[in-house]
Amino acid sequence: MYSKKLPFILLCFSIFLFMFFSKIYKQTYVMKSFKTPHKEMTVDGVMSSVWGDLPTTTNFTSLQKSSSARWSVARLEHPKAQYCVGDILSVQVEMRDYEGSPKAQGGDFILARIHSPKLHASASGAITDLLNGSYGVHFRLFWPGEVCVSVLLIHSSEAVSVLTRISKQNYGKIVYTGTFARGSKVETSVCGLRLKTDKALCEYRKKEDGEYYACVRPQTLPCSSLKTMRSYNSPSPYLTQDEGRLLAWWTSSLCQTGRFLSAGAINRCLQGKRLHLLGDSTVRQWIECLEKKLEGLTYVEPVDHFSTKLAVDSHRNITVQWKKHSLPFISAHNINVNNCVYISRELDRIEVGEGQPDVVVVIGVGQHFRPFPPELFIQRLINMRQAIVRLQSRSPQALVIIKLENTRELSSVMTIQSDWYGHVQNLAQRKVFEDLKVVLVDAWDMSVAANTFATHPENIVVSNEIVVALSHLCHYP
Ligand SMILES: *[C@@H]1O[C@H](CO)[C@@H](O)[C@H](O)[C@H]1NC(C)=O
Ligand SMILES: *[C@@H]1O[C@H](CO)[C@@H](O)[C@H](O)[C@H]1NC(C)=O
Ligand SMILES: *[C@@H]1O[C@H](CO)[C@@H](O)[C@H](O)[C@H]1NC(C)=O
Repeated sequence: MYSKKLPFILLCFSIFLFMFFSKIYKQTYVMKSFKTPHKEMTVDGVMSSVWGDLPTTTNFTSLQKSSSARWSVARLEHPKAQYCVGDILSVQVEMRDYEGSPKAQGGDFILARIHSPKLHASASGAITDLLNGSYGVHFRLFWPGEVCVSVLLIHSSEAVSVLTRISKQNYGKIVYTGTFARGSKVETSVCGLRLKTDKALCEYRKKEDGEYYACVRPQTLPCSSLKTMRSYNSPSPYLTQDEGRLLAWWTSSLCQTGRFLSAGAINRCLQGKRLHLLGDSTVRQWIECLEKKLEGLTYVEPVDHFSTKLAVDSHRNITVQWKKHSLPFISAHNINVNNCVYISRELDRIEVGEGQPDVVVVIGVGQHFRPFPPELFIQRLINMRQAIVRLQSRSPQALVIIKLENTRELSSVMTIQSDWYGHVQNLAQRKVFEDLKVVLVDAWDMSVAANTFATHPENIVVSNEIVVALSHLCHYP
């Protein structure tokens, strides 16, 4: 089924289970005791808490001494003759290096899943780093029949240490070009979140939130004429040749199709509601999915595919709007910066109360922040956190849903967009939103389970995200 030289471990065996219960995806909800948050959160506080939760990694010395999937082994722990639905299946992974010697430290970045291709069923596994070169992987068995286990070494611990090094203090991986326009006159200049230059600047600040970006002042046009922004990856060499080999990849693709919640049920749930989708194109996928699925819901012009979309079902009083978050974003297209929003500001603008529809907010951020130091993302999250608290004090029944990051293509430029950055950012999201009355949609878990390494996951994953969100909204079974 898989060629032997691929750098991942696969273990396939049959388990016979004696109950009839099947489930597509493990749906993870986070529901907590909702108390009013009062502690003041700081970027430094969240950062040290996130780093504290991550295992120490091994410094890169040579490729030979780095973790390699080739010689590493995965075996069933305490194998049983028979497993039942609901049992935990445990696998132990023993990591070895390129020479085949066992590793003595942890810190490798591993993802694991069980799946049954015939049933289109899959679930992700929980990984415990034993910090001695071994890892425990635990799966709950959700369905009867044959089950395949696959364990993927995404990055060796040495590669993680390289990624950690280049993510700190590094604002230069993405370079922006701003376009200024007035009348028929057009000028462009370099822009960025922390520009290093002696030239005069146009600065774009949101004082309330400490948000900031800047462009080199165009020759004649005023700062206020900034219209669009696009980006490219900086070619700067961050890696030695060996470090580059450490981060090289194998690519896979695997498609699944599956069930989809009925249009009628979604319509009943959304009737009389206004859905604010705020963030990147992974939540734009929600409006696209809903617009395709619901016959009554149609786009209202003008639609700007890259920054804002509005769809309405006037018969059922359903409004769905997507707005793109403000810089940073990664895009080769010119993005209209005036349509993009700081999510905290947008939350403050939401009208609530008498005569207003029920408010549902879905926030999905992360992918565009991966190339930047984590403090930028954490600052943004803290601003959103404070705005969520303000929104809920104006309207306690407003439902806020946070869509965590999903995994992306294995062919991504690892120094810029590795899933390891996404993993760290998801950890930060959990820390920042942990004590708020919000629903987390664990898109990471779903995309690992479905094995969709795609920035824009296929429909089955997006519809599962929506199902989880709607179950909180409308208490679906
Ligand atoms: C790895 O290297 C860094 C920087 O050279 C050093 O501060 C750190 O102590 C080293 N870590 C280990 C585990 O050797
Ligand atoms: C690591 O520790 C676990 C649990 O203590 C043990 O089962 C395993 O054999 C150890 N692995 C290595 C490589 O020493
Ligand atoms: C839609 O909203 C209007 C005005 O608030 C109301 O009169 C009408 O009954 C609503 N229709 C539905 C289907 O909820």
